Amino acid sequence: MLKQIKTPFTEMMGIDFPIIAAPMFLVSNADIVSEASEAGGIGTFPALNYRPLENYAAALKEMREKTKKPIGLNIIVNKSNTRQNDDLRIALDHGVNLFITSLGNPKTVIQEAHKNGAKVFCDVTNLDHALKVQDLGADGVIAVGAGAGGHAGPISPLVLIPWLKTRLNIPIIAAGGISHGSMIAACMALGASGVSVGTRFIASKEANVDQAYKDAIIKSTPEDIVMTTRVSGTPAAVINTPYVQKMGTDLPWAMKVLKDHKLTKKYMVPLIHLMGMKSLEEAAVKPTWKTVWTAGQSVGLVEEILTVREIYKKLISEYEESVNNLNQLGIK
Ligand SMILES: Cc1cc2nc3c(=O)[nH]c(=O)nc-3n(C[C@H](O)[C@H](O)[C@H](O)COP(=O)(O)O)c2cc1C
Repeated sequence: MLKQIKTPFTEMMGIDFPIIAAPMFLVSNADIVSEASEAGGIGTFPALNYRPLENYAAALKEMREKTKKPIGLNIIVNKSNTRQNDDLRIALDHGVNLFITSLGNPKTVIQEAHKNGAKVFCDVTNLDHALKVQDLGADGVIAVGAGAGGHAGPISPLVLIPWLKTRLNIPIIAAGGISHGSMIAACMALGASGVSVGTRFIASKEANVDQAYKDAIIKSTPEDIVMTTRVSGTPAAVINTPYVQKMGTDLPWAMKVLKDHKLTKKYMVPLIHLMGMKSLEEAAVKPTWKTVWTAGQSVGLVEEILTVREIYKKLISEYEESVNNLNQLGIK
């Protein structure tokens, strides 16, 4: 029986372990979310994984039938997400307990979530943004560091977490590069109240992605992860497959010019997004030579496909072992 790990985050959410199964576009599903929450952590998913809106409401209902424990949702809060008000309302109707906001201004989500007793954590990659969301009333931040899957931040978690800690009085969740319990212990030592783990759960039995994607997570090393702007216009971490090598990791020159020009920007940015999302979507669910697979540097320590519950158990046992090893070092 694993002992609980108590932190300000677990106390706030009423959960046993400070480990979020991070929201992942195309990967997070009802099984990952409910199993993560049942394992004592908290499962989360991006609202946009379920389209149209009826499928999203049905997915929330399914999750709620599978677990009564806290669950979380990721909402993109910039203008590109025209569904955000509906996403929020339907989530609150289904008793979602944790909101993770990314991009844009989280003010409305914070206000509405708080009226319903839910908590809001905002993705941040630097102190400036973290201070802004703290002022807006966020309950905590997800500190997305270098090495993360998805839109990784530029700063090493070793620096980012203590840096945020100097000025924040809300809990910090470390995200990026975590696929072994020793890394959780390290993040806690740096001052985090929990961790958010993405890439590790792509290689889970519950993930509904193409087997080749899961195999690539297991085979890849940290050196196989490259940053590309071709997926969304902002740097995203992907596996350096032959297709990524062929296409290059930078937008073509003409696209870049149109993206940065004030007259064409507003058409070009959504177009790049749409094209990138489409290629991710195709590669994630079916065999194709156009392999664009998002993943972070933590692939280096992912060695087998396990169930979500097994992954939780392994991370927690490794965490306990690391803490015990540190205790044995002692201080003389
Ligand atoms: C395949 C994939 C898709 C992701 N999609 C999203 C997303 O839709 N929204 C979001 O806020 N973060 C997204 N992320 C980032 C994760 O929520 C999390 O911050 C990140 O995975 C943590 O780093 P790790 O992958 O090294 O564990 C994604 C990450 C991956 C690997």
